[in-house]
Amino acid sequence: MVYMAINAVAGSIREFSPKDIDQVYRIAQESLTEFYTQSLIMDLHREWPESFMVYTITDTVVGFIVGSKYSRTEARILLFAVDERFRKMGVGSALMDRFLQLCREENMLSVRLEVRTDNDEAIRFYKKYGFVITALLPGYYSDSSNAYTMWRIV
Ligand code: ACO
Repeated sequence: MVYMAINAVAGSIREFSPKDIDQVYRIAQESLTEFYTQSLIMDLHREWPESFMVYTITDTVVGFIVGSKYSRTEARILLFAVDERFRKMGVGSALMDRFLQLCREENMLSVRLEVRTDNDEAIRFYKKYGFVITALLPGYYSDSSNAYTMWRIV
């Protein structure tokens, strides 16, 4: 299914397909500080396939989001990144809007995520979306840096 997104850049959102793995992997490598193998990313896809969405511009993946169901009523955003060259154009917002829409369709009540405490850009983005910091997780990442848990009602 293809969802058109109205944005500063002309693109569309669709569900991830295994053929996208190289492009998603590249964006994850360049944008995220943790290392995720292609097989781990494919495992995440199996957790909640409909939540794994890619934003494409003329068949090129420029951003993606993937979540899981933390509980029957709580969704979790696992990975979320936009190719650096396409940031601040509304791609991340389009993906987040679609993810929240899916959560509503699946009767989720809340969404949580973890983010590095020094990731100011992402924290600002999430706060704009109504996420609040609910916990500090010391040494959460593989390099021992800290995470915040952020949370919002769907
Ligand atoms: N012109 C100017 N500014 C714009 C426009 C536009 N046309 N469209 C959006 N913006 C602004 C937004 O208002 C927003 O402003 P803010 O910085 O004050 O919040 C900002 O640009 C970003 O909004 P978007 O463009 O919708 O988001 P973007 O596509 O840049 O993606 C993301 C946001 C995913 C956080 C991106 O910065 C990123 O990939 N960061 C690196 C990876 C990362 O940190 N991911 C999150 C890790 S945590 C986790 O995965 C659970």
